[in-house]
Amino acid sequence: MHSHVKSLYRGRSKYDKPTAQRYEEQRQVAKHAAEMRLIDRAFAHIPRTHRVLDAPCGGGRVTAHLAGKGYAVSGVDLSQAMLDIARANLSAQKLSCTVEQQDLEHLTLANRSFDTVISFRLFHHFPEPRIRQRVIGELCRVAEHYVVLSYFSPASVTSLRRRLRELRGGRKSEKHSTSLKEIDIYFQLAGFRLVKDFARLPLLHTLHLALFERVDAGPT
Ligand SMILES: C[S@@+](CC[C@H](N)C(=O)[O-])C[C@H]1O[C@@H](n2cnc3c(N)ncnc32)[C@H](O)[C@@H]1O
Repeated sequence: MHSHVKSLYRGRSKYDKPTAQRYEEQRQVAKHAAEMRLIDRAFAHIPRTHRVLDAPCGGGRVTAHLAGKGYAVSGVDLSQAMLDIARANLSAQKLSCTVEQQDLEHLTLANRSFDTVISFRLFHHFPEPRIRQRVIGELCRVAEHYVVLSYFSPASVTSLRRRLRELRGGRKSEKHSTSLKEIDIYFQLAGFRLVKDFARLPLLHTLHLALFERVDAGPT
């Protein structure tokens, strides 16, 4: 990996072999199905001919789901343990998607090398605006047309509870919510605009999925 100064948040280093295995084994069937339905709602806007980057791919469940729908999908992740699980899962399902190690803060992929980029269940790990903007900049740089980003909404009951607990001096959460307004600013700076924001029940469920599309000519 390159020598840039790294930002620190637990999600960068926590996916070692035991944690990666636990993440895979503890996957809840109902929760997984609901999350894939949310992804399907966003991907109803994305042509099946698109080359898709799943970043981060973790154990490959989104990669496999989208490949099963006919997209040409590749995955990237920082954790070798997660990549090993993704490779095993994809080959067990006879899917020929490639996965490789990449850092979302500094992707070594070419500008616009994918039609659509999806980033699922990582953004809420980022504690600072600086990292959030950097990662959105990288996702937009490699996307020719669309970026699909999951984030934790600050307006949900769970987020409000978490904030109240912190205000009362309770345990600090490792999960960080971000307003769609803040996210939209980073996308606008990268030449993208919001198409639609998805959530199962916006005030009840913290996990949202926002679809953005390129509007500028940008770097080629
Ligand atoms: C909660 S998992 C989600 C994985 C997958 N998208 C899913 O929904 O199953 C978060 C993943 O982000 C990866 N990750 C954390 N920081 C990263 C970074 N800077 N670049 C690439 N991957 C990163 C972790 O290794 C982990 O696999």
